[in-house]
Amino acid sequence: MVDEKLRVLIPSEKIQARIRELGEQISRDYPEGPLHMICILKGACYCLTDLSRAMKRDVFVDFMGISTYGKGKTTSGEVKVTKDLDISLEGANVLIVEDIVDSGVTLNYLMHLLEQRKPLSIRIAALLDKPDRRLRPVHANYVGFQIPDEFVVGYGLDYAEKYRNLDDICVLDGPSAAK
Ligand code: IMP
Ligand code: MG
Repeated sequence: MVDEKLRVLIPSEKIQARIRELGEQISRDYPEGPLHMICILKGACYCLTDLSRAMKRDVFVDFMGISTYGKGKTTSGEVKVTKDLDISLEGANVLIVEDIVDSGVTLNYLMHLLEQRKPLSIRIAALLDKPDRRLRPVHANYVGFQIPDEFVVGYGLDYAEKYRNLDDICVLDGPSAAK
């Protein structure tokens, strides 16, 4: 795909290599017991499918839809569950898989919500982390890459639902970046 507004930040090979490393690390950290990988739709589904296949142990996968009411590049701060989980988390080790931690509003809300469901433990795996943007405290236990405060698309990340299916993670420049 050729688009003059896109600048490659993390090429596909680097993403895949890092996900393999994370899969091995997470598998070592959870030597036994059930592990539930929770994918936050829609952005994290690309990461979840690759990360779950990089795991060296059995895992369950489930999906949760979260809307932060933002259509542009910033979150509105309001969070709503649009699709809930199918399986119970009671007594389970839970790994939330998210594409990016930005303001932290989404994951801060989600951690509180899922803690009420009595899991044994909850950790967060985020492919990307933009620490400069944090408004609410969030600790991602596993981070693929820390990135600067730039709006990125690709490998699941979108701008108005576009660009999710790019293999690389790219910075979106150009006129729309001002919106
Ligand atoms: P937070 O609640 O601000 O941490 O936002 C998390 C959500 O905002 C992510 O799951 C993404 O859907 C979206 N988001 C934040 N930064 C970016 C970005 O640079 N590109 C695309 N989506 C982003
Ligand atoms: Mg998202």
